[in-house]
Amino acid sequence: MVERIKEVAEQGSIFGAPTELEVKLGETLTRSASLDKLRIVNTGTEATMHAIRLAIHHTGRKKVLKIEGGYHGTHPFNFPSEFVDSVHFNSVGAVSDKLSSKEYACLIIEPAMGNIGVINPNEGYLESVRDITERTGTLMIADEVITGYRTGFFPYYVSKKIEPDLATFAKIIGGGLPLAAYGGREDIMKKVRPSGQFPQAGTFSANPISVAAGLETLKILSKEDYTRLKMLTETAVKELSESGLTVNSNTGMLSLFFSKSRIESAIGAMNSDKGLYFRFFEKAMNAGIFLAPSFDETIFISFAHNEKEVKETFSFLAEEAKKLWKAR
Ligand SMILES: Cc1ncc(COP(=O)(O)O)c(C=O)c1O
Repeated sequence: MVERIKEVAEQGSIFGAPTELEVKLGETLTRSASLDKLRIVNTGTEATMHAIRLAIHHTGRKKVLKIEGGYHGTHPFNFPSEFVDSVHFNSVGAVSDKLSSKEYACLIIEPAMGNIGVINPNEGYLESVRDITERTGTLMIADEVITGYRTGFFPYYVSKKIEPDLATFAKIIGGGLPLAAYGGREDIMKKVRPSGQFPQAGTFSANPISVAAGLETLKILSKEDYTRLKMLTETAVKELSESGLTVNSNTGMLSLFFSKSRIESAIGAMNSDKGLYFRFFEKAMNAGIFLAPSFDETIFISFAHNEKEVKETFSFLAEEAKKLWKAR
């Protein structure tokens, strides 16, 4: 990847015009994410902000619904205001109650949450949400900034057979360089300039260096064995289950909550013992293990890890967690 980045950098890092590489990346992403059209930007914050702005432009509605504990970047649509409301994850009734007013341009949702720890959708939840958004003319934006190409070589919504109106990507698709994307239905995306009236541009958007890194990453990932990653995660979860605490996971991502209860929304996560998690983080750090420093951040396992490392690390962590919980 580094070689490829060097090669592309030699040819120029910015042209203020589309490049062939950008088209290639766009094609790879639209195909694997089942999207009609897509725009490349620099960060997840930009991708979600533009997707929401586009939803407002498309529907003519002003309000935005998000999920409590979800994170979409530091633009104003991420925070509560007279235009931004939130509901708890896994509550179909709450989504239905809000959206029945038909005032909301969109619901932005991480289909499997990763910013309040890992929280997976209950059986049928995403399908019901999709149904309600469709019936109320609310656009469903799947924020796959964490889950896209992590839980499989596609967005998480593809594995759940959900078709959102718009979707957003970042992190993995840039292979460590600033790159993100938003895309979706043809009739919505064609409203973006120059084919439509919706203004969105960016000096560094789709710069060749990031795009080359993204393409190279996707090339590598397309050959990776996600079943192995799933097994590695299961190994970690199995070890952590020895702690007796609550563990939520998805392929390549997991959370340990200092709680005995099932956690299916931000309520459970916020009620877990956050101070104890921090002490757990410190214990791990002192032992040379760098975990997510806060209870609401996800612990990630990657293709670079192996079975032995995962087993040893998580059996140690399970023991430490058990000790902390007992002594509290
Ligand atoms: C789900 C989700 N959406 C959006 C963002 C914002 O992305 P960025 O930090 O690239 O602006 C993040 C960042 O962590 C995220 O986790």
